[in-house]
Amino acid sequence: MDQQGLNAIERIAGAQRMPYRSISVERLTPVIGAEIGGVDLSRSLPPEQLAEIRRAFLENHVLVFRDQQLSVEQHKAFGRLFGQLRALPLEDIDGDDPELVVIRANAQSRFVAGETWHTDGTADPEPSMGSMLYVKETPAIGTGGDTLFANMHLALEMLSPAMQGFLGTLTAIHDGEIPWKGYTPPPGLPKTEHPVVVRHPETGRPSLFVNSGFTSHIVQLSAGESQVLLGMLFDLVAREPVLSCRVRWAPGTLVFWDNRCTQHHAVWDYFPHSRYGERVTILGGRPQA
Ligand code: SIN
Repeated sequence: MDQQGLNAIERIAGAQRMPYRSISVERLTPVIGAEIGGVDLSRSLPPEQLAEIRRAFLENHVLVFRDQQLSVEQHKAFGRLFGQLRALPLEDIDGDDPELVVIRANAQSRFVAGETWHTDGTADPEPSMGSMLYVKETPAIGTGGDTLFANMHLALEMLSPAMQGFLGTLTAIHDGEIPWKGYTPPPGLPKTEHPVVVRHPETGRPSLFVNSGFTSHIVQLSAGESQVLLGMLFDLVAREPVLSCRVRWAPGTLVFWDNRCTQHHAVWDYFPHSRYGERVTILGGRPQA
């Protein structure tokens, strides 16, 4: 790790935080993720708890709620506290609720959702602000199926000031067909140009906004240059464990992550065992440089 990286970690890990009064917040790593206690998401949340959950979300980017007993309606109601839920066409989903993405893997699976580093829905003109995955079944072997989450503010800040400045002048194409490589994609998938460095709309903090799951190329560069630069940026996320936390799921765990400043990677290390969860996705706005 070079001095630039160490300084970035120190800045993020050491940022001043006010204490919490109505929830407990146990950080997963110094730079990303926290377990939140003292909250029952099946009930209507007192305003102070909701305000503290919002603050914990902005400070930690990934919130883990354990031992929740939620109906689909309660899961969706928690999501709606943060915005409108994304609805998908019924023909594109597994199940019959357009607002609920079923995440299912078993002995018949040939791939699972999210098994590369990515951010949900960045090919959309207005990508989602966050996702909430509620896991109901974990692999019967008693382990496996964790999810990694990476802090993209830190990924940007670990780069040299010269590279950060250059990236700030660029835009990239995010293509909804990329996850369908080797399969026939459904018609009408989105393809959108976004800045490579975006500002978080609530905190104003800059973040690296390209991901191997959806970003095809950088508009201002030649094909070869784009490939090398994107390769370096994708590799940074894969090669620097300091960027990430690892969430171990149990039935009844709900994780809420911020798609505006994180990437995630679902680890498929439990084949042929099964894992089942349900995700809602909260709509966001157009990313701004
Ligand atoms: C996803 O939303 O990409 C799936 C994450 C997971 O299954 O852990």
